[in-house]
Amino acid sequence: MTQDELKQAVAKAAVDHIAPHLEPSSIVGVGTGSTANFFIDYLAEYRNDFDGAVASSEATAERLKKHGIPVYDLNAVNEIEFYVDGADETNESLELIKGGGGALTREKIVAAVAKTFICIADESKMVGILGEFPLPVEVIPMARSHVGREIVKLGGDPVYRDGFVTDNGNIIIDIHNMDISRPIQVEERLNNIVGVVTNGLFARRPADLLLLGTSEGVKSIA
Ligand code: 5RP
Repeated sequence: MTQDELKQAVAKAAVDHIAPHLEPSSIVGVGTGSTANFFIDYLAEYRNDFDGAVASSEATAERLKKHGIPVYDLNAVNEIEFYVDGADETNESLELIKGGGGALTREKIVAAVAKTFICIADESKMVGILGEFPLPVEVIPMARSHVGREIVKLGGDPVYRDGFVTDNGNIIIDIHNMDISRPIQVEERLNNIVGVVTNGLFARRPADLLLLGTSEGVKSIA
């Protein structure tokens, strides 16, 4: 199977998982990226079975609206039962690196609110130790150099994502060659740097369920 077919398979599995729980008042949290896009397309088949969605990016909001799915501001929503999103890397503890698409901050906010975070990923995203994929960090623009220097002190190689502006008007620094053998500690240390908005480690709040697309089928890991 191609990588896209694996992404489609996990996206469909996620919809199959949540569909029996959808109620007319349900709000679904929706992530960002190509796997999340497949999820949106399948979710649209159930658009009459739930109220609407909260989007983790402008691109996701646009795609949801194109399918006729109402998009709510998170502040207008009381409860999100499920948040479904892809990842750039996952380990067996369902700790993730996210933010390859630069939407990490809104993704982390929606994941924090959701009762159940379902990660959908093809098997290429499963790693032993996180960090082969560069770790994205969203940074207030004026703090770029300061944050870069602090990242070097933590042992990482910061690379400015040239020309990229997040939905929140900030910049992204991608950290290469960082030792992420202790993900929670790294997540917290990066959060403590002044000027950092969010980092792409989802370790303090990992996924609750991983639907992993493999050539033998979709594996559920909780
Ligand atoms: C966007 C993300 C995505 O979930 C991550 O980049 C995976 O993307 P894709 O599903 O296209 O492989 O974190 O900020």
